[in-house]
Amino acid sequence: MFSIILAGGSGTRLWPLSRKKFPKQFLSLTDDETLLQKTAKRNLYYSDKEDIVIVTNRDHSFFVKQQVQPILGDDPHIIDEPIGKNTAPAIALGIKYIQEKLHGKLNDAVFISPSDHIISPASEFADYVKLAEQFAKDGYIVTFGVVPTKPETGYGYIEKSNKKLFDEAGKTVFEVKQFHEKPDLNTAKKYLESGKFFWNSGIFMFSIETFIEEIEKYEPEIYELFSNSFETMKKEFHKMPEISIDYAIMEKSKKVVVIPINITWSDIGSWDSVYEVLPKDENNNVIKGNVVSKNSKNSLILGSKRLLCTVGVDDLIIADTDDAILIAKKGYSQQVKDIVELLKKEE
Ligand code: GDD
Ligand code: MG
Repeated sequence: MFSIILAGGSGTRLWPLSRKKFPKQFLSLTDDETLLQKTAKRNLYYSDKEDIVIVTNRDHSFFVKQQVQPILGDDPHIIDEPIGKNTAPAIALGIKYIQEKLHGKLNDAVFISPSDHIISPASEFADYVKLAEQFAKDGYIVTFGVVPTKPETGYGYIEKSNKKLFDEAGKTVFEVKQFHEKPDLNTAKKYLESGKFFWNSGIFMFSIETFIEEIEKYEPEIYELFSNSFETMKKEFHKMPEISIDYAIMEKSKKVVVIPINITWSDIGSWDSVYEVLPKDENNNVIKGNVVSKNSKNSLILGSKRLLCTVGVDDLIIADTDDAILIAKKGYSQQVKDIVELLKKEE
């Protein structure tokens, strides 16, 4: 199966560790491997090295190459977008590359994954992906759904229908009634209460043919550019509409199905979610780096070059870097992006 890894985002919610020049996919949170490296490794469960394509932006492509060479070999397939146009154009460029340079056929399934999530255990996730391949080849757009635990507004929601297309060995495939990208808080609360919705994990699979059919139907501007060669498409990339795959296709397509996944998944969109997914010590702390701590509990404390000491702190997020420190109360980390906005204005 072919695989496209999307690595062109520029998240700032994990400031001061993630920056415009150093987005989340390049962070190593659980061990020495970065989230991008973990993604590349995970994808080897279902794709051969030479069938994995990474789409990133021009500024990061050299760094991406360095990072994935130990995993994917000396000459990984890296596409550098001339300009970021969000995920729908990035995927279209990746699919064109697969058709033209890797001889992808219309019936081949393509697995699309973000590069900045935590997914574990990888081997169990691979079983879901294998199940998805069969549905992708049958013309469906397969999404992977996560049971929601809060009315998160940063995610897409997948409304399942009652129709099951598959139900075996603890795995289910539901037809999808409607895909709703990033609802407002009240709507998200209703979705959560109804019990009929999954979070969209941002991971998809479809055949090349299905992608082309849906993009022709729902995003003709992308389709028109897609009809060119890979090189021309890249040259004309600035003409692409700026739109995510979720708005471009997922909300409109009638071919969407969902596989609920029962494993650890997090898009670690905030420091609070970093704390949630990492293993805690006996005081319920997550401590990394150059840190000495006494009587501190329930906190995420990330040290850097200088020594960081805490005494008696509770319920805090502390992240040190060379030029900035974040100190936040747990539960408030969504507001870090407001700080980043403020700093941008002051620049
Ligand atoms: N190559 C490339 N070019 N990659 C991009 C671009 C781009 O212009 N924009 C974003 N990406 C990459 C990001 O690096 C990330 O790995 C992935 O595409 C998804 O983009 P995000 O910007 O992180 O999307 P999101 O988190 O707001 O929303 C998506 O993911 C959620 C789950 O994490 C949506 O699919 C939601 O529906 C979903 O719930
Ligand atoms: Mg994301």
